[in-house]
Amino acid sequence: MSDNLKKLEARQALALLGGGEKRIAKQHEKKKLTARERIQYLLDENSFEEIGMLVTHRCTDFGMEDEIYFGDGVVTGHGTIHGRLVYVYAQDFTVFGGSLSETHAEKICKIMDLAVQNGAPLIGLNDSGGARIQEGVKSLGGYADIFYRNVQVSGVIPQLSAIMGPCAGGAVYSPAMTDFTIMVEKTSYMFVTGPNVVKTVTNEDVSSEDLGGAQTHATKSGVTHLTALNDVDCLEKIKTLLSFIPQNNREKTPDIAYNLSDEYRYELDNIIPGSSNIPYDMKRVVSGLMDADSFFEIHENYGDNILVGFARLAGKSIGIVANQPMSLAGVLDVNSSKKAARFVRFCDCFNIPLLVLVDVPGFLPGTDQEWNGIILHGAKLLYAFSEATVPRVTLITRKAYGGAYDVMNSKHIGADYNFAWPTAEIAVMGAKGASEIIFRNEISTADNPAEKLQEKEAEYAEKFANPFRAARRGFIDEVILPNESRRKLIKAFKTLENKRVHRLDKKHGNIPL
Ligand code: HXC
Repeated sequence: MSDNLKKLEARQALALLGGGEKRIAKQHEKKKLTARERIQYLLDENSFEEIGMLVTHRCTDFGMEDEIYFGDGVVTGHGTIHGRLVYVYAQDFTVFGGSLSETHAEKICKIMDLAVQNGAPLIGLNDSGGARIQEGVKSLGGYADIFYRNVQVSGVIPQLSAIMGPCAGGAVYSPAMTDFTIMVEKTSYMFVTGPNVVKTVTNEDVSSEDLGGAQTHATKSGVTHLTALNDVDCLEKIKTLLSFIPQNNREKTPDIAYNLSDEYRYELDNIIPGSSNIPYDMKRVVSGLMDADSFFEIHENYGDNILVGFARLAGKSIGIVANQPMSLAGVLDVNSSKKAARFVRFCDCFNIPLLVLVDVPGFLPGTDQEWNGIILHGAKLLYAFSEATVPRVTLITRKAYGGAYDVMNSKHIGADYNFAWPTAEIAVMGAKGASEIIFRNEISTADNPAEKLQEKEAEYAEKFANPFRAARRGFIDEVILPNESRRKLIKAFKTLENKRVHRLDKKHGNIPL
């Protein structure tokens, strides 16, 4: 065997060992997989090809010249998931805590460049103590090189970030600029400044978990789109998410074969309650309309008065945005508007058709909402729908009141087909509120004001608490029965498969951020 061959084998063996057995054992004690185990689990068997296995850092300060680890704390390469090409990097916490050096950053950048050149998704498995402290500004520069690429490739290839350990300081901004973030419960956290700095600056006592754990970001900040019980669950969710998404912005969605039958769904006829004040679970409508068990919800516990997620309709991948009457009666507020706007924009980037289910009594009133910018955030959703050129179909199941009617993918802002169930109520506001305003004098001077209000309410409801006025004007294309809705939607999306829209020539719009 030649010397070089021996050297190669020795170096490869060292690279596979990462930071050594003790550190690997520590990683396992924390119930975390190693970088290599994660990649192995994520990718199709034997599909991983590593790039940069023999890279080492170039730091000579603080005795670092004696601390050489092949791969330098990040495993990078490509492989396949369900037979489709992906590029992946996995930070190796066993080597300098997965910290990011100049060369570690170069490896990630190389993978990002290859991913965009070859039109394949980029998956980052993050588990890092942040900037390599021994390297100073070189490592900060490395972060910025990654951030810059995150932005350049945004909208060209899907970018997914898994947080599977620490992710702190400026490091959080790479995941924040990718399309989806998924955090592992209990073993991961994300924050700009940690508990110690928080204590010093604000005198607050807070644990890492409370400050930036998976639950915090899934419910309070909305920073993470998904959470996972453990590493394996996290990697499984990445695979499922990718199954709905095209490889890049020029591809169509990855559809699966489906044989059409009659497609009537009679269980949908019994969902809308007798009174419009009684809530119902919009998820029942979603599952009635979509292929069995195909709904993959995003941001489940954040802004839950709106549902967003992917599903399949006759085997085709679509994005769903739906008001949820079970939470805050399905109103639009700051969080739900932001959440839905981001989702709509993702689907529009990647040619994923949108189905919008509407049951919305308006925007949430109050100082909290106004002072937190409901005007700006509601505008985000309006803007996102208005600029989306993917196939867009709306189904109004019940209320479509006020400005929220316009915002929720109305015909006026470019939806392709707008359907309504006979239970739809399309009006400026609910019958009671409307009657109190427009019949105020008549009601206050009546012998029995309460009775008069009821009478006027019924009169208003008779006129507007239905879809027919909107249908007469063509704002609704067709009033359809719940049981035939799946069939109608399948046909509607089929006609839109080759939709083309030419936008006005511009650098980019100015979405209200
Ligand atoms: C170099 C690091 C490191 C770092 C950890 N290590 N972080 N080495 N640079 N940033 C090393 C440790 O020295 C240790 O080496 C090994 O990784 C494992 O770390 P432990 O502390 O033993 O692990 P644990 O107890 O799990 O704690 C993990 C941790 C802690 C919370 C991440 O290591 C930590 O606080 N690290 C420093 C974090 C930090 O301040 N980073 C810089 C942030 S500023 P040995 O040899 O003992 O195994 C930043 C700016 C980015 O990132 C700006 C971008 C724009």
